[in-house]
Amino acid sequence: MRLAGPLSLLPLVLTTQISFQQLRKNAFITPVIDEFVTSELTRWNSSGLSVAVIRQDTSAPGKWDIEFGSYGIAKADGSPQALLSRVGGAAHQEHVARGMTGVAALRWDTNIADVLLEWGLMDEEMQNGVMIQDMLSHRTGLPRHDMSRAVREGGVKEMISTMRYLRPSAALREQYQYNNLMFETLSYLPPTLLNQTFESYISEHIFDPLGMSSSTYSIADAEASENLAHGFYWSMRDWLYSINGTRTAIDPFFQRPGEEKIRAGAGGIFSSARDLSTWVAMLLNKGRHPTTNETVIPEDVVDHLATGVSVASECVCVRLWAGSLQLSGLRDSRAWGANPGFKTQVSRFPNDNLGVIVLSNDENGAHIIESVKWRIVDEVFRLEPIDWAQRYADEFAKSISENQAVTPRPTNPASPSVPFISMEGTYSHGAYGAFYPCLVQSPPSPTCADVLGSPVVQRILSVSNSSIPTLIADFKRTGSTHLRFTHFDANVFNVSVLWSNADVRKKEGYPVGEDGEVVIGLDSRYVAEWVEGNGDRRGEGEGDGWAFSGNFWGSAGDVRELVGVGKEKAEVWLERV
Ligand SMILES: *[C@@H]1O[C@H](CO)[C@@H](O)[C@H](O)[C@H]1NC(C)=O
Ligand SMILES: *[C@@H]1O[C@H](CO)[C@@H](O)[C@H](O)[C@H]1NC(C)=O
Ligand SMILES: *[C@@H]1O[C@H](CO)[C@@H](O)[C@H](O)[C@H]1NC(C)=O
Ligand SMILES: *[C@@H]1O[C@H](CO)[C@@H](O)[C@H](O)[C@H]1NC(C)=O
Ligand SMILES: *[C@@H]1O[C@H](CO)[C@@H](O)[C@H](O)[C@H]1NC(C)=O
Ligand SMILES: *[C@@H]1O[C@H](CO)[C@@H](O)[C@H](O)[C@H]1NC(C)=O
Repeated sequence: MRLAGPLSLLPLVLTTQISFQQLRKNAFITPVIDEFVTSELTRWNSSGLSVAVIRQDTSAPGKWDIEFGSYGIAKADGSPQALLSRVGGAAHQEHVARGMTGVAALRWDTNIADVLLEWGLMDEEMQNGVMIQDMLSHRTGLPRHDMSRAVREGGVKEMISTMRYLRPSAALREQYQYNNLMFETLSYLPPTLLNQTFESYISEHIFDPLGMSSSTYSIADAEASENLAHGFYWSMRDWLYSINGTRTAIDPFFQRPGEEKIRAGAGGIFSSARDLSTWVAMLLNKGRHPTTNETVIPEDVVDHLATGVSVASECVCVRLWAGSLQLSGLRDSRAWGANPGFKTQVSRFPNDNLGVIVLSNDENGAHIIESVKWRIVDEVFRLEPIDWAQRYADEFAKSISENQAVTPRPTNPASPSVPFISMEGTYSHGAYGAFYPCLVQSPPSPTCADVLGSPVVQRILSVSNSSIPTLIADFKRTGSTHLRFTHFDANVFNVSVLWSNADVRKKEGYPVGEDGEVVIGLDSRYVAEWVEGNGDRRGEGEGDGWAFSGNFWGSAGDVRELVGVGKEKAEVWLERV
């Protein structure tokens, strides 16, 4: 299983306060399941979970058995868990691609370069060869590059035009590497071909026909509903030092109204377990509305979705959305999503007429949604129960020990080739944008006084080792607000990508202070090497820069190691401007 790091953004989540008691027959969500879920939440001190199990009642047309369960808390004030969460957008994208066939003769094998003028990649062969299917199947050669994701004035259009600056980690169709940017790019098809926003296209063709009235892409609408659950983060967690952090609600939602459009294509949906159960029932019904039998998604598209195209290394599954997992002889097509504080999984077993939705509002919930899903599957199919709780607990423990497997800093580290203070300045990249690292010293350089003096940076520094030279940069992107560079040896630094909601809370009038604030990412770790340029300061030669590595670019599977020095070896290179 893939445990998402704090920056692994995908989807999102949550909520609605409807009583499903009358719907519950307890055929699937039995007292055994209730007990299992409750014990998992207690064991992990987890906030909450919503569950839906869907099966067609084949004794009569248009009849479905749908059961819901909700456990724990939805919000910081302790309101009970209702039912919401977001789901990955791949299938929607496929629908977009398909639905517009008539308009632009789009096919799975249409080259995206023929459709989007903004499209461009660093590698020319890749640029001209990438088909829509490659983008949906995560085999374009481009790794995640999630840290480049940011709100942009020019929106998705501008984002697409920056992708040419991103370094690929594999050749076209060589390797499965999940990539949000490709989904976001595809969300630009409706505006381009139909003069319609992606959000309105999905509402018109999916939400409305299915009556998914609690589903939206709009943060403002979701926040206005009162039913939006809080995602919970483990603030100040630092696994390296065995610090679990404090469970804290992310309030308000981690992105602010207006910032969501860029992320919509990668599954930025707010939804509920109830709405998602209709979505899954439609998929189980081969693309037709579960009760009216009207076609919502053409059957061949639904079939195509469940057909394996590329193999993800982290599991036996096929694309993120349509994984094909052979387990106990069952075939599972699933969507998996994560957003700060929310974890979601939507599975369907098309050959066995079953759908299982599990939504968590706990950042650590990724392993809980899996154990609960498989426990339900065992129960429904009356399989010999496996100790899923222990299996996933072991995986969770493994991810912690992997995080702790570091090489200690040398006792007598070498000094870098220039004084630390000379590393201050503006560095820039075509897609990642610019940053200005500030040396932590007393007093700070005048340019850095504000950054270093801010309460959130002071809080970060309070848990950083003050005897190690450290630089901090403001780095406001989709999943981050700051970078912390901690000196390791010579020109090499350990880098943590941090995110805090302190500034947003202050700006929006929430109580100021550490109580409600979240700081995360202290235990995310990458490597940055400061590289001295060989330029003659008149613009000739290479400039100074930071070479990021340590899987900063988010590649997956067996990718070739980068060789060379400095810039050549950089997954991402930010050069002094
Ligand atoms: C739904 O439509 C499909 C395709 O037309 C048809 O085969 C099926 O029998 C219909 N089901 C019901 C319950 O009407
Ligand atoms: C696109 O839609 C906008 C807003 O609905 C409209 O003002 C504009 O005229 C349309 N453009 C084209 C080329 O149809
Ligand atoms: C931290 O979490 C782990 C489980 O991941 C648990 O074993 C440990 O007891 C927790 N530590 C504290 C201090 O709560
Ligand atoms: C669970 O987390 C909450 C919030 O951080 C904390 O108040 C509580 O003490 C924790 N309980 C256990 C058993 O760790
Ligand atoms: C710091 O970076 C070095 C060099 O890549 C690495 O060996 C070490 O494990 C890292 N330390 C931490 C705490 O991440
Ligand atoms: C802080 O860093 C220094 C120098 O690398 C090291 O000797 C010391 O053990 C570190 N302190 C902690 C608490 O890790």
